[in-house]
Amino acid sequence: MKFFVDTADIDEINELSNMGIIDGVTTNPSLIHKSGKDFREVIKEIAKIVSGPISAEVTSLNKNEMIDQGIELSKIANNIVVKVPLTEHGLIACKSLSKKSIKVNVTLCFSSSQAIVAAKMGASFISPFIGRLDDLSSEGLKLIEEIVTIYNNYSDNFNTEVLVASIRSPQQVSTVAQMGAHIATIPTKIIKQMIKHPLTDIGLNSFMEDWKKTGQNF
Ligand code: E4P
Repeated sequence: MKFFVDTADIDEINELSNMGIIDGVTTNPSLIHKSGKDFREVIKEIAKIVSGPISAEVTSLNKNEMIDQGIELSKIANNIVVKVPLTEHGLIACKSLSKKSIKVNVTLCFSSSQAIVAAKMGASFISPFIGRLDDLSSEGLKLIEEIVTIYNNYSDNFNTEVLVASIRSPQQVSTVAQMGAHIATIPTKIIKQMIKHPLTDIGLNSFMEDWKKTGQNF
């Protein structure tokens, strides 16, 4: 499974990239706003750090403008993936950009029927938002199961990777990995939480205590 980090924070991206734990980055207009930086500049900075796919989202709602923005974004670096919303205009832009060999991430997916249409329109990635579905007492994880099953049923026709988004817990990452999702885009805090387990800390403390008792140096 590939890990993308869901942030536009350069310090976080640097740290995780140096660790070697991330394969890509996703951003969105809210994350750009949070970074407090210029959109193009921050995407350029990220592209200097990460060689894997970097999603940069269009800001227009109009198909022709989305295509123009997508072409401009794709010129920033060769690993830029253009993110478009799952609307009719977004899907038309997706088809057009994909035909130009520009990779597209179709975002804000909340149903398996939306995921089918995105795959038919040439999306390289589909981003189902599980946390936001859970927030509405709907089952985010069920959606991932449905999309993975459908894409696997048509693996000869669909070349779209399932990029699970809006992740709120380490357990969700484990569950979507078991379902066969290709990628999880994860906030930094949750990547860090995935590493931790209280029994690891307790076990390590006791090993260190016993090691001290041996009186040996190593
Ligand atoms: C995905 O690409 C989105 O940036 C992200 O996962 C949204 O997550 P949120 O629901 O935590 O804002």
